[in-house]
Amino acid sequence: MGQRRLEGKVAIITGGAGGIGEATCERLAKAGAAVVVADINIESARKIADGICAGGDRAVAVQFDLLDTVSINDLVSVTMAEFGQIDVLHNNAVYNPPEAFNADGGFLEMDSTVWDNIFAGNVRAGMELVRSAAPHMIARGKGGAIINSSSGASGHGQLTMSAYGASKGALNSMTHYMATQFAPYKIRCNTMILPAVLTKGLEALFTEEQIEQFVSHTLMKEATRPADIAAVVEFLASDDAKMISGQLWKI
Ligand SMILES: NC(=O)c1ccc[n+]([C@@H]2O[C@H](COP(=O)([O-])OP(=O)(O)OC[C@H]3O[C@@H](n4cnc5c(N)ncnc54)[C@H](O)[C@@H]3O)[C@@H](O)[C@H]2O)c1
Repeated sequence: MGQRRLEGKVAIITGGAGGIGEATCERLAKAGAAVVVADINIESARKIADGICAGGDRAVAVQFDLLDTVSINDLVSVTMAEFGQIDVLHNNAVYNPPEAFNADGGFLEMDSTVWDNIFAGNVRAGMELVRSAAPHMIARGKGGAIINSSSGASGHGQLTMSAYGASKGALNSMTHYMATQFAPYKIRCNTMILPAVLTKGLEALFTEEQIEQFVSHTLMKEATRPADIAAVVEFLASDDAKMISGQLWKI
């Protein structure tokens, strides 16, 4: 790193209190951005924002709920009140409470309410965040970057997690529409298609042997960590990526 290439920018990171979100908030703040740690889990979001501020960088924690349109609009209003501009929106949060995660199985046993909630959290909220934040980017006239976090699960079939996989597929598709519609304003939209990323949460679910086995099947023979994703977000958020839009990046 060594440079503060996001100096003067303001970034909203949804799911900022999660495994990948925390690493991303910290990385973007170190690169000079003022960071909004946006999450339903406000205690953890506050701890992360406080840690960033203690290190001399700028951050604020804001609570919101992916399923609540009013809270999404409030998140954007609070960001504008706090920092006066929005340059980067990272749609990183995922709707994954245990009742939805555990019920997201195959099509034959799918509960329509579970399906609807997963789509509301992972797809509708992404649209609403953009609908709310992009007008501020457009009004300022300095462009912007929208970065979505999708999953490898969007590109292949599984016996389970049908709604999750399909919702991430919708995010992939939205990338092209957003990139097309916002290009006149120099607002770029890109999506990272993430592999299994070894967050603390995920690591706790596996034995060391299972992780070793999983790593042996990766191209780089190395587990992808949250910091690896944060580095990609920093690049996509920066002006170094000014010619990159409408791309699905398989990490
Ligand atoms: N970790 C992986 O292996 C992996 C793989 C593929 C894709 N992804 C994607 O990367 C992103 C981040 O994943 P992660 O592993 O850091 O997840 P995580 O579960 O650690 O973090 C998700 C964050 O979203 C927040 N959140 C949950 N419900 C919310 C709601 N209703 N409103 C607002 N915030 C809410 C949680 O509080 C949490 O802080 C997700 O979009 C996920 O689908 C992760």
